[in-house]
Amino acid sequence: MLGIGGLAWLFAAIGDASSGWTAAVLMLGGWVLYHQFYLHKTMAWLEDFQLDKVPHGSGHWEAMYAKLYKLATSGERRRKQLAETVKDFRSATEAMPDGVVTLDEDNQIIYANEQAEEQLGISNEKDVGRNLINIVRHPEFVSYLHSSVWDEAIVIRGVRGSNRVLQVQLIPYGTRQRMLMTRDITQLDRLETTRRDFVANVSHELKTPLTVLSGFLETMRELPLSDAQRAQYLGLMHAQAHRMQNIVEDLLVLSKLESTAATSQQDQIQMGPLIERLCHDAKGMSREQHQIICECKDDGVLIGAEDELSSAFSNLISNAIRYTPAGGTIRISWIVGADGSGSFSVNDTGPGIESQHIPRLTERFYRVDRSRSRETGGTGLGLAIVKHVTTRHQAQLVIESEVGKGSTFSIVFPEKRRVSRGAEGVGD
Ligand SMILES: Nc1ncnc2c1ncn2[C@@H]1O[C@H](COP(=O)(O)OP(=O)(O)OP(=O)(O)O)[C@@H](O)[C@H]1O
Ligand SMILES: [Mg+2]
Repeated sequence: MLGIGGLAWLFAAIGDASSGWTAAVLMLGGWVLYHQFYLHKTMAWLEDFQLDKVPHGSGHWEAMYAKLYKLATSGERRRKQLAETVKDFRSATEAMPDGVVTLDEDNQIIYANEQAEEQLGISNEKDVGRNLINIVRHPEFVSYLHSSVWDEAIVIRGVRGSNRVLQVQLIPYGTRQRMLMTRDITQLDRLETTRRDFVANVSHELKTPLTVLSGFLETMRELPLSDAQRAQYLGLMHAQAHRMQNIVEDLLVLSKLESTAATSQQDQIQMGPLIERLCHDAKGMSREQHQIICECKDDGVLIGAEDELSSAFSNLISNAIRYTPAGGTIRISWIVGADGSGSFSVNDTGPGIESQHIPRLTERFYRVDRSRSRETGGTGLGLAIVKHVTTRHQAQLVIESEVGKGSTFSIVFPEKRRVSRGAEGVGD
């Protein structure tokens, strides 16, 4: 401005006053146009902002563009850093085995990781901004979210009609945000229930013979008994003690089997002689009450723990004999299938088992007919042991049964557990 005034004064000094004014007006107009031009250029750039299309100018405008560019680049860098941080946070939460849901103070969903989406049935696409309470309408969960004490996690069952058991905890953070952590503890919960049931079952199983035993002891101490009565009571007491011993022994076998997932024993078991021995024992056990038929269609070798396998096979045979009424037929066989698998089967013409019991037969202490099992001295642990032995040999226990017709219990071994007659070495 000072420059324009000076030049106007110079023109006025050289010429007259009017030429001075004219020069001043012209120069002022030019000055205004110059700035107007850059102002437009700047506005146009800002409206369609692209960092790499920063305009060029002269004088103060160039300096201003340089400053604007610097400001914009640092803003862009900060935006990128922020986006990176959010991305890192998301990938960290995605990598977590637990579910994570971030919520605002009104329990509206900000973000949920994949696990939380799956566990709570949230969709990151549809449910962001929705209130979590409207999605997970579980009474305990809703009252937990509404309370103000979140020091401890709570356990909720049956979220959205599933069998899942979830442990959830709300963790307040930042100014008003909240983070909901969810953990699927279905398996743990099941184990805990099994453990509780097991302790209750063992106590119950031992309590019965123990009560009988102490009853007899009481009688013997307080009543004068004849020698015959004494001998009879001692016999009954011995039977109860024997029963308890069987339970404890079976429990010890089970706990030993459970201590390792797979057997490391690689005995080469000749199936021909084994089936022959099992058949001989079966005939002894049956005392000619049943017809025992034995088949061994492949005198090959089975690889595994001989003691475990022969006890599992005997278990199936003793069940068949104990539960099949006199006059029935029991067929013991070892057959090699077309797929190379080897199958040890015990088929009987006994009472058969109703289908609803079949999946539960391998549970500890599970019996279809409790009194029949006890009568025959059963502990209810036999098939649990068989199942463990089967699993330890990567085999499968297959139970087929029809009420009134009979049952077939088979242990099917994979080909790698077999060596055919004549083959060399152990197949794997
Ligand atoms: N061949 C079979 N026919 C009919 N029912 C059977 C047969 N095998 C097993 N069961 C049923 O399955 C239940 C579980 O069998 P399991 O062998 O585990 O126990 P148990 O025979 O009662 O006792 P133990 O521990 O002495 O073997 C039995 O109580 C019986 O009711
Ligand atoms: Mg049994």
